[in-house]
Amino acid sequence: MPASADSKYRPETRLVHAGTLRSQFGETSEALFLTQGYVYDTALTAEKRFKNEEPGYQYSRFSNPTVTMFEQRMAALEGAEAARATATGMAAVTTALMGQLRAGDHVVASKALFGSCRYVVEDHCPRYGIASTLIDGTDLDQWRKAVRPNTKTFFLESPTNPTLEVIDIKAVAEIAHDAGATLVVDNVFSTPLYQHPLELGADCIVYSATKHIDGQGRCLGGVILASEKFINDHVQTLIRQTGPSISPFNAWVLLKGLETLAVRVQRQTDTAATVAVALAEHPKIPRLIYPGRPDHPQAEIAHKQMRAGSTLVAFEVEGGKAGAFRFQDALKLIRISNNLGDAKSLITHPATTTHQRLTPAARAELGISDGLVRLSLGLEHPDDICEDIMTALEAV
Ligand SMILES: Cc1ncc(COP(=O)(O)O)c(C=O)c1O
Repeated sequence: MPASADSKYRPETRLVHAGTLRSQFGETSEALFLTQGYVYDTALTAEKRFKNEEPGYQYSRFSNPTVTMFEQRMAALEGAEAARATATGMAAVTTALMGQLRAGDHVVASKALFGSCRYVVEDHCPRYGIASTLIDGTDLDQWRKAVRPNTKTFFLESPTNPTLEVIDIKAVAEIAHDAGATLVVDNVFSTPLYQHPLELGADCIVYSATKHIDGQGRCLGGVILASEKFINDHVQTLIRQTGPSISPFNAWVLLKGLETLAVRVQRQTDTAATVAVALAEHPKIPRLIYPGRPDHPQAEIAHKQMRAGSTLVAFEVEGGKAGAFRFQDALKLIRISNNLGDAKSLITHPATTTHQRLTPAARAELGISDGLVRLSLGLEHPDDICEDIMTALEAV
């Protein structure tokens, strides 16, 4: 299907067909081009490719047909002009931020970030003379007040990891643009199906494709999506020259993962909503956070900018850390793991794993209490998941 034809199809159809490059053999399933490099018919062709005077591939650090298919499919899904895949989600985040920033610049970010993203903003940027300010992303005034004359970019994730806070992307994009800055959104928790940050005014989206896009725990990957200009100005050269590149094999796995994304995410979201209902009234669950519910702290914004809730639920188990540990250890089907978006239901205790690097005060500020767990729903039968949770809660 030519890229220009994709936009008339619904997301589920684009996930299966968009970006396909069929070889001369007419294969049904997308081909895996496991090649480092390419040969040129003539020396003149090689010269022209290197001068960008002729289209074609040169070297898989920065271009490969399987990777192109994955990038094109993601771009068609997000309505982005361009996409570049990376080896991991963190490579996507670091490239999207560091590609724009120079010594003397300033970055503003919501403090509710995945631990490694927070490290990039809080520790890595300052090492290169880039100042950073972390704020409460749900408070629009804090974004406005954090702006300095040298502010170049804003960074946020929504819903946030692990407390599933929802940030008003459209409003933050407006504040960023008024300040002459860009907005980069980590869209992992909403998946490419439930929220389109570019439509809401963001300049760049980053994904850990390791999560729902693979969705079966096999390989890591990341994607950066933006306008052609953003990619050319900030991303393309950095990837080409420094090499945070994805392997064609991983791009192929992720490409095939996209074909089933809509079905998986729909099922995981339905199960998450069912679990949220079951936990909402449970006497051993003092706090439940689910963006699809009216009692979510930012329910109105979630309703406005997201097409559906989430494949994850966060909740506090009675008894603090001891209660959360007893609960996790009593689970039989749901496995303890820091990953998410997988076919297998996975549970995490953020205070001792993904967010253990933060001080207790910083965790308290983010609502990451010692009793909080984050549950990523998988593809098991919802009744089996609910039974596992209810039985485990008896051990608390
Ligand atoms: C919100 C968020 N952003 C980025 C990442 C980093 O992705 P990766 O593990 O693929 O580097 C993760 C997960 O680990 C995440 O949860």
